[in-house]
Amino acid sequence: MPIFEKFRESWVRPALFFGNNPVSLAGGAVTSAAGVTMIGYWLMEFFGRSNANPYLGIIFFLILPALFILGLALIPVGIVLRRRALQKAGQIPTEFPKIDLNDRIFRHGLDIVLLATIVNLLVVAIASYRGAAYMDSPQFCGQSCHVMHPEYTAYRISAHSHVPCVECHIGSGASSYFAAKVNGTKQLIEVTFHPFAHLAPKIVPDYPTPIPSPVTSLRPAREICESCHTPAKFVGEKLLVESSFADDVQNTETQTVLVLHLGGEDSLSHLTGIHGVHLGHIEYIATDAGRTTIPWVERTNPDGTKTVFTASVLNGAMPRGERRVMDCIDCHNRAAHTFVSAEDAINRAMADGAINPDLPWIHKEGLALLKANYASQEEANAKIPAGLEAFYRASNPAVLSTRAALVKAAGQELVTLYSENVFPSMKVTWGTHPNNIGHIEYPGCFRCHDGDHSAKNGASITQDCAACHNLLAVDEAKPKVLSDIGMQ
Ligand code: HEC
Ligand code: HEC
Ligand code: HEC
Ligand code: HEC
Ligand code: HEC
Repeated sequence: MPIFEKFRESWVRPALFFGNNPVSLAGGAVTSAAGVTMIGYWLMEFFGRSNANPYLGIIFFLILPALFILGLALIPVGIVLRRRALQKAGQIPTEFPKIDLNDRIFRHGLDIVLLATIVNLLVVAIASYRGAAYMDSPQFCGQSCHVMHPEYTAYRISAHSHVPCVECHIGSGASSYFAAKVNGTKQLIEVTFHPFAHLAPKIVPDYPTPIPSPVTSLRPAREICESCHTPAKFVGEKLLVESSFADDVQNTETQTVLVLHLGGEDSLSHLTGIHGVHLGHIEYIATDAGRTTIPWVERTNPDGTKTVFTASVLNGAMPRGERRVMDCIDCHNRAAHTFVSAEDAINRAMADGAINPDLPWIHKEGLALLKANYASQEEANAKIPAGLEAFYRASNPAVLSTRAALVKAAGQELVTLYSENVFPSMKVTWGTHPNNIGHIEYPGCFRCHDGDHSAKNGASITQDCAACHNLLAVDEAKPKVLSDIGMQ
C-alpha cells in the first residue's frame, strides 16, 4: 500500500469518523472564533486603530491565544472520547466510511482542512510571538496590574523612563527569560486570587504588600548598568545644590551646596573617588533582608591583599547573612524607582516654583497634609486641597480671596507629590523604600562609613566628611558661593 494510501486508510478516515462529535466540533468552533477575532484585532492594529489599554492586551495577547490552543486541544480529546465510547459499546466499524478522492466534495473538504491547518499554525506562531513581545513591554509589566503601580509611577518620572523594565529586570539568556516568565505567571496567579486571599490567609496565594526590596533575582548590576553607563566616562566632581524651607510664616529658604567627589576610572585606568573605590572589589555580609545592617566588609586592595573591616558588636566573630559583591545597586538601589521623603518632595516643589513659597505657612501646612493618613488616593485627592483651603479660611482668609489660584495650584501639586510617593493599596508610604545614595534620611553610605568598622591594623572605613564631599555651604540663606559662581 503506498504510504499516502495507508495514511488515509488508518488515520484520516478514522479521524473524520471519530471527529464527528460535539467536543471536537466545539473545539473547532472555539479555535476558529478565537482565530478570526485575533486576526481582526491585528488588522485593526495594522491600520492604526489599536487601543493602548493593557487589559485589552491581556485579552488579545494572552486569553485569546489560550482559547485558540484550548480549542485545538479539544479536537483530539473529542476523538479519543468518542472512540472509547464506541469501543465500549462494540460499535467500531470494521471499515470506516469510504473516502473517495474522486468525490469532488470530499477533495474540497480535504483542501479546506489542509489550508485551515496552515492558517492555524501561522496564527499560533504569530500569537505566541506577539504575546512574548507584549509581555516584555513596560506597559505590560507596569500597568497591567496595580501591584506594580508604585514602581511604574516612579519609573515614568525617572531618568530611565525610556529603558524597558526587562533591560534591568531580566537577565540575558534563555534560562533567565524562562525564570522571569515563571515568576510572572506566579504573580498573575497571586493577583487573580488576591480578592479571595482574606478568606484563608496563607493558604490562598496572594502577593506581598509592599513588594519587597531588594530584588534578589536581579542580574549583576554592572552587567546591566554598564551596558549604558561607561565607568570611564563617569564625572569627576558633581555639584549639588539643595534648597530647604523652614516651618515659619515666610517659609524661609536656606541652601546646602556641596561638591561630591564622584571620581571614576581616569585615562590612566586609576580608580578614583566614590565610584572608583567601590568599582574595585568589595564584598560584604548583610544580616537583615533589607541589606541595611552590614557588620562585615572585605576590600580587595589594588595589590591583591585583603582588608576585613568589622563592626565592634561582632567582637571578631563571623556574622551569618547574605554575602554579596558590592555593585552599583548597593548605592543606586532606587535607580529607576526613586521615592523621596515628604520633606524632599515639598522642598523641591517649592524650589522650582510648583508650590509658590510666597504663600504663608505653606511649607509647614503642606508637609502636614502630605504626611497625614489617607485610606486611598481618592481620599487624598479630595482631602489635601480641601485641608489647605480650610487652613487659610480659618487662619488667613485674605490669602484665599487674593491668591485663590496659587492656593489651588499648591493643593494640586501636593496631590501630585502624594500620588508619586504614597500608594495606600500597596502599603507603600513615605520611607517604605529607603534610598541608599546619601546618609541624611537613611543610613545609606553610613551602613559602612559609620566610623565603627575597623580592621585589625587599626584602619577604619572613613567617616571623614571631606573624603566624600566638600561642604561649601550648609543651610545658609543665599550662600555666597552660589553668587560667586554665578548661580544666584
Ligand atoms: C534602570 C534599571 C531599571 C528599570 C528600567 C526598571 N527597574 Fe525595577 N528595579 C530596579 C532596581 C535597581 C531595583 C531595586 C533592586 C534592589 O533594591 O535590590 C528595582 C526594583 C523593582 C521592584 C521591587 C520593589 C521595589 O520597589 O524595590 C519592582 C516591583 C520593579 N522594580 C518593577 C519594575 C517595573 C514594572 C519596571 C518597568 C515599568 C521597572 N522595574 C524598570 C531597576 C530597574
Ligand atoms: C538602556 C540604558 C541604560 C541602562 C541599562 C541604565 N541606564 Fe542609567 N541612565 C540612562 C540614561 C539615558 C540616563 C539619563 C541621562 C540624562 O538624563 O542625562 C540615565 C541616568 C542615570 C543616572 C542619573 C540620573 C538619576 O536618576 O540620578 C543614574 C544615577 C543612573 N542612570 C544609574 C543607573 C544604574 C545604577 C543602572 C543599573 C541598575 C542604570 N543606570 C542602567 C540609561 C541607562
Ligand atoms: C559607593 C556608592 C556608589 C556606587 C557603588 C556607584 N555609585 Fe554612581 N553615584 C554615587 C553617588 C553618591 C552619585 C551622586 C548622587 C547624586 O547625584 O545625588 C552617583 C552618581 C552616578 C551617576 C550620575 C552622574 C551624574 O552626572 O549625575 C551615574 C550615571 C552613576 N552614578 C552610575 C553608576 C553605575 C553605573 C555604577 C555601577 C558601575 C555606580 N554608579 C556605582 C554613588 C555610587
Ligand atoms: C558595603 C560597605 C560600603 C558602603 C555601603 C559604602 N562604602 Fe565607601 N567604602 C567602603 C570600603 C570598604 C572602602 C575602602 C576603605 C579603605 O580601604 O580604607 C570605602 C571607601 C570609600 C571612599 C574612599 C575613602 C578614602 O579614604 O579615600 C569614599 C570616598 C567612599 N567610600 C564613599 C562612599 C559613599 C559616598 C557611599 C554611599 C553612597 C559609600 N561609600 C558606601 C565600603 C562601603
Ligand atoms: C561616605 C561618604 C560620606 C561621608 C563620610 C559623609 N557624607 Fe555627607 N553626603 C554624602 C553623599 C553621597 C551625599 C549626597 C546625597 C545626595 O545625593 O542627595 C551627602 C550629602 C550631605 C549633605 C546634604 C544633604 C542634603 O540633601 O541636603 C550634608 C549636609 C552632608 N552630607 C553632611 C555631612 C557631614 C557633616 C559629614 C561628616 C560628618 C558627612 N556628610 C560625611 C556622602 C558622605
